[in-house]
Amino acid sequence: MTKTLVLPDTGERGELYQSLLPQITALTDSENDLIANLANTSAALFSSFDWLWVGFYLVKDDELVLGPFQGPLACTRIGYRKGVCGSAWAQAKTLIVEDVAQFDGHIACSSESRSEIVIPILKAQQCVGVLDIDSRQLADFSIIDAQALEPLCEHLSKFFPN
Ligand code: SME
Repeated sequence: MTKTLVLPDTGERGELYQSLLPQITALTDSENDLIANLANTSAALFSSFDWLWVGFYLVKDDELVLGPFQGPLACTRIGYRKGVCGSAWAQAKTLIVEDVAQFDGHIACSSESRSEIVIPILKAQQCVGVLDIDSRQLADFSIIDAQALEPLCEHLSKFFPN
């Protein structure tokens, strides 16, 4: 079955999210496999915005391990409290980094990355993974992204095993 996204012709990010998020929810609700849903979510986000990298890291034992993503090759394992991803995991909260060069301990998977947002995926109050997005633009992320992506991550949490 062909699946295509229909998006408004606008550069306004809030409007794009408003149109895109229900489509991702519908797409993922028709499938219960975790990896399939994370893969399509990363593709939907990556193809809708001009970002460098969109993907998931999954908590496995005491590390984050690379999951489905779109963009350049990335580091495969990130420790607890390491980098932006490991910090969002440890703090169980969304981190917005306006300039990755100013973030102590930032892990540079790509030298093109200038700003980043990481949203933890929480299930039963435990962090089971993170959604990580990198941009080539400085300060590309704001509360608008956090307010759209946090409910998306909450939706995706239901596909993780109990
Ligand atoms: N920059 C991240 C590492 C993952 S890559 O950006 C894909 C970090 O500092 O955790």
